[in-house]
Amino acid sequence: MTAAPDYAEKIPNNVDLRDDRRLQRALESWQPNFLRWWESMGPALPTRDVYLRTAVNVGRAGWAHFAHVPMRDYRWGIFLAERDPDRRIGFGEHKGEPAWQQVPGEYRADLRRLLVIQGDTEPASVEQQRNLGATAPSLYDLRNLFQVNVEEGRHLWAMVYLLHAHFGREGREEAEQLLLRNSGSAESPRILGAFNEETPDWLSFFMFTYFTDRDGKYQLGTLKESAFDPLSRTCEFMLKEEAHHMMVGTTGVDRVVERTAQLMVEHDTDDAGPCGAVPLAVIQKYLNFHYSVSLDLFGGETSTNVANYYTAGLKGRWAEDRRPDDHRLTDDPMDVDALVDGRPGQIEVPALTGLNTDLRRQYIADCQTGVNRWNKILADAGLPHRLRLPHVAFNRRVGAFAAVNVSPDGELLDDAEWQRRRGGWLPTEVDKTHVRSLMRPVHERGRIAAWLAPPRSGINGKPFDYEYVHLT
Ligand SMILES: [Fe+2]
Ligand SMILES: [Fe+2]
Repeated sequence: MTAAPDYAEKIPNNVDLRDDRRLQRALESWQPNFLRWWESMGPALPTRDVYLRTAVNVGRAGWAHFAHVPMRDYRWGIFLAERDPDRRIGFGEHKGEPAWQQVPGEYRADLRRLLVIQGDTEPASVEQQRNLGATAPSLYDLRNLFQVNVEEGRHLWAMVYLLHAHFGREGREEAEQLLLRNSGSAESPRILGAFNEETPDWLSFFMFTYFTDRDGKYQLGTLKESAFDPLSRTCEFMLKEEAHHMMVGTTGVDRVVERTAQLMVEHDTDDAGPCGAVPLAVIQKYLNFHYSVSLDLFGGETSTNVANYYTAGLKGRWAEDRRPDDHRLTDDPMDVDALVDGRPGQIEVPALTGLNTDLRRQYIADCQTGVNRWNKILADAGLPHRLRLPHVAFNRRVGAFAAVNVSPDGELLDDAEWQRRRGGWLPTEVDKTHVRSLMRPVHERGRIAAWLAPPRSGINGKPFDYEYVHLT
C-alpha cells in the first residue's frame, strides 16, 4: 500500500524510500547534482520566494499545498499514485494478467529507453524557459512559469526514481546523462527536436505550454496504461501536475488573443502591431510553428517499435479502457497519413503499426478545442477573423511528410515556392523582433503588460494583484 508522504526525509516520497537504504543513498547522491543543474540551468531571474504549489499527498483528498517558498527549497520528491493491488494489464499479449511490479528481463532495454526519452524532455523545457523571468508580463505569469519549471524538475525526479529503483547501474548512468545533455547544446543536445528549440519570448512560452506540454500529456497517457505498474502510477500523478501546464498555455493564448482582438476593434484595424499587441497574423504563425514541431514528437506514421511496445504491454493507447475493441489489435487495419503518388494522402496498414498516428490524431482533436476557444474570443469581439490548425503535413521534419513542402492548406509546393511563401506562414525575423520588442518586464504587483489581457482569476483563490513572487 502507499505510505503517507514522508517529509522528514531528505527526499520527500511516498515509496517507503527509507526501507531501501541502497536506493535511498543512490538518490541522495544524485540530489546534489540535480540541485547544481537547477542552479546553473534553471530559472535565471533571482527571486526571494515564489507562491508555489507543492505536492504533499497523492490521495484524492487534496494533494496540493500552497505557500511562498524559495525555489531552491522546493521539496522535489517522489510521488506515485496509489497502488491498486488488483490492477491487471489492459492490452497486448499479456492482457488480463496481473500488472508487473518488477521489470521483466526481456523488456528491460525497451522500458529503459522509454523512461529516458520521457525523462529527457522534463529538464529540457526548464532549460528552454530559463530566461523568460526577465521579461514576465506580470507577477501572476512569473509565478506560473516557475510553477511549471519546478514541476518539470519533479517529473525528472519521477523518471530518475524509476531508473534508479529498477534498472541498476545502467539506470543510474542514464540518470547522470539526463543532467548532462542540454537543450540546444551542439555537443550533447536533448533527444527530441522540439526540446532543442528556443523559447525566447512569452508568446512562444504560451504556445509551448499549449502544444508541446500537451504532447507530454498524451505520451504520459500512453505510459499510464503500462503493464509496468510503478511507471503507470508515476505517470498518473504526473498527469495531475500536467493539467496546470495546460491551463497556463490555454489561458495564456486566450489572453493574448483577447487583447489583440480588443485593439483590433478599438482601432478598427487588422494589424494590432502598431497598437502595442501581437498581430493576429503573427499569433497564427507562432501557432503554425509550435503545432507542427509538436506533431513531429509523435514520431513516424508507422512504427514497428511502437507495435512491439503495445503487444508487450509497455505502452498503451490514449484512453485505452474506453476503446471499443479487443485491446490486442492483431487483425485490425487502420488508415494512416502517407505520401500517395508524392502527395499527402492515406494508406491502410495493420492497426498495430499505426499507433503513432492514432495518438497524433487524439492530440490533434484536443488541439482543435483550443483553436475553437480562441475563435470564440474573436467572434465575441465581433471580428470575422479566425485561427486554425495548419494541415498535418505542413512544416514537418519527421515522418512521411518530412520529404515534401506543404502549405497550411495542404497544397504541395516545390522548394522555390516554399522558400518564397514560408514567411507568410512561419514567424520571420521581423515578427520575432516585434514580439521581442513587447517583452518588457512588468514585475510590479497588480500590473500587467499591454500586449495581453489579465487572467479571469488568480491562483488558489488569490486575486490578480497578490504578491505571487518576491524578487530579491
Ligand atoms: Fe512534465
Ligand atoms: Fe509539462
